[in-house]
Amino acid sequence: MDTTTYPIYLVGGSKGGVGKSFVSLALADYLQRQDIHVTLVETDTSNPDVMKSVQDEMHCIAYGLDEADGWIGLVNFCDEHQDAAVIVNTAARNQAGVARFGATLASTLGELQRQLVVLWVINRQRDSLELLHAFSRTFPDAITHVVRNGYFGSPDKFTLYQVSQLRRTIEARGQSLDFPDLADRVADELRSQRMSIRKAAETMHIGERAELLRWRALCDTMFARVMKNE
Ligand SMILES: Nc1ncnc2c1ncn2[C@@H]1O[C@H](COP(=O)(O)OP(=O)(O)OP(=O)(O)O)[C@@H](O)[C@H]1O
Ligand SMILES: [Mg+2]
Repeated sequence: MDTTTYPIYLVGGSKGGVGKSFVSLALADYLQRQDIHVTLVETDTSNPDVMKSVQDEMHCIAYGLDEADGWIGLVNFCDEHQDAAVIVNTAARNQAGVARFGATLASTLGELQRQLVVLWVINRQRDSLELLHAFSRTFPDAITHVVRNGYFGSPDKFTLYQVSQLRRTIEARGQSLDFPDLADRVADELRSQRMSIRKAAETMHIGERAELLRWRALCDTMFARVMKNE
């Protein structure tokens, strides 16, 4: 019997526009290509962009994390999909819900026999880091990686993070990762067409497709490091 359990990947960041949806899309594409069964929990109920992009390809469900009900649903969903990796795409400003109800998930991970892997997407500003401190108090057992989004500049531009104590804490168990920047015209097309990466790789025009594949190869390197850590 196959007893492998797949992680719950929570793509967080708490801030708006840092690239959470983009990382969730890239992760879904990566796991699919590793022949891992993937499911998506969309918690951005006001703008379920990731769900719209991947709903033809995988089982998706939407839960709001501002309410206890959403967390209960999330835990039950993870229990019912033991054979799949679960990607949780989070919304901006859900830190109040995390602080209030996050223990619903944190306290059941043992019984679910699942690891929580957090990909915390940051820009160059301080509040990205402060929000992670708050989040980590709710999920002390998660393996947490910080994802410097290359959209905001090269790794050395993330000065506050580079010199922070937080970076040392993260790198004791997790990693500091670099999410590659994708050319704006390709990113814009993905977004406006609500396309999955897989679909885009099949249908985009040759030039855009070449750029997408360049970016995807860099994503592969990043996610391979995440998988090695589990
Ligand atoms: N690595 C990247 N390469 C190219 N464009 C990017 C990248 N990261 C983010 N962007 C751009 O920034 C925009 C915001 O990204 P995204 O929607 O993933 O952020 P978010 O954190 O999910 O935002 P929200 O809080 O609104 O859900 C995207 O439309 C995309 O065009
Ligand atoms: Mg988003």
